[in-house]
Amino acid sequence: MYTKTFTILMAAAISSTTFAQDVAPPFANTSATPVHFGILLHSAIQPIDLFGPLDVLTGLVMSYRNVSRFELSVLSVNSTPAATGSRMGGLDFEFALPPSITLAQYRELAASNFTTDLDEPATCPDKAKIRNKGPIDVLLVPGGGGTRADVSNEIDFVKEIYPKLRDIISVCTGSTILARAGVLDNKKATTNKKAWAWATTFGTNVDYQTHARWVQDGNVWTGSGVSAASDTAYAYVAHVFGDQVSQWVADSNEYTRWLNASYDPFADRWGLGKANLAAA
Ligand SMILES: *[C@@H]1O[C@H](CO)[C@@H](O)[C@H](O)[C@H]1NC(C)=O
Ligand SMILES: *[C@@H]1O[C@H](CO)[C@@H](O)[C@H](O)[C@H]1NC(C)=O
Ligand SMILES: *[C@@H]1O[C@H](CO)[C@@H](O)[C@H](O)[C@H]1NC(C)=O
Ligand SMILES: *[C@@H]1O[C@H](CO)[C@@H](O)[C@H](O)[C@H]1NC(C)=O
Repeated sequence: MYTKTFTILMAAAISSTTFAQDVAPPFANTSATPVHFGILLHSAIQPIDLFGPLDVLTGLVMSYRNVSRFELSVLSVNSTPAATGSRMGGLDFEFALPPSITLAQYRELAASNFTTDLDEPATCPDKAKIRNKGPIDVLLVPGGGGTRADVSNEIDFVKEIYPKLRDIISVCTGSTILARAGVLDNKKATTNKKAWAWATTFGTNVDYQTHARWVQDGNVWTGSGVSAASDTAYAYVAHVFGDQVSQWVADSNEYTRWLNASYDPFADRWGLGKANLAAA
């Protein structure tokens, strides 16, 4: 039995066309790859909006931590943990998400031009000292029920930090924070298809794309609803680190990447088909 299984495994390994690709492919472009990823929390986060991209980045880090430095910061207005789920229905079905740094603390680091660590971050859990990870290169803004609450502090922060970022990525109704910060003005963007009527009321002259799993316009990436978070992240990794790198992470995560950004059956499902728009 052992011998038979062993023989089959050996035969599979030898004949496998992917055998030679069992080493992570190199970055397509090693100049100026982003190092520091930030996630901006608000009060109620759609889980996969955060964990989808985080899983893609974690897969990237697991395979490439010896190739590049990677840093992660989780930002929030204050040290009160945010949560997954919706706080609108009084439903106790949530998962607490404590930040690693508050917006005020990040501003303090930025004001010192990222020259020192922060002392006394009494407000942040599990940290004797906030390590200075340098400026954030890429900011991820997830969506969820919290975007319908008061997000004026988050909007101010995005307005302030966007000019210093390499890239910004929103998922789902996180787009409304970008739009209210003026980041989407005169740009192509997309958002959650079910929440379309509300989410597209924000911004000035935003060219909202109905049939789009994600949209890239310059350094602004916007994803469609919920599960599109992962596809947006894979597309971003493909663009920045290389298509083979993105595929390597997807294969490692046993995930089928969405490759066609304009294939979007959910636009029709939620009434944004061309016929519906013409009638509207
Ligand atoms: C590599 O990335 C740098 C910085 O973004 C860019 O200027 C350069 O054109 C890229 N090179 C290639 C071959 O894409
Ligand atoms: C990274 O380097 C460490 C130390 O040399 C090694 O143990 C580890 O296997 C390497 N990881 C990868 C993914 O190459
Ligand atoms: C901030 O630090 C960077 C990197 O060390 C340096 O290039 C820049 O000149 C500094 N800016 C100020 C205003 O001190
Ligand atoms: C992407 O999807 C759109 C919409 O279904 C389709 O029209 C287009 O041909 C597809 N593109 C590719 C390269 O498959």
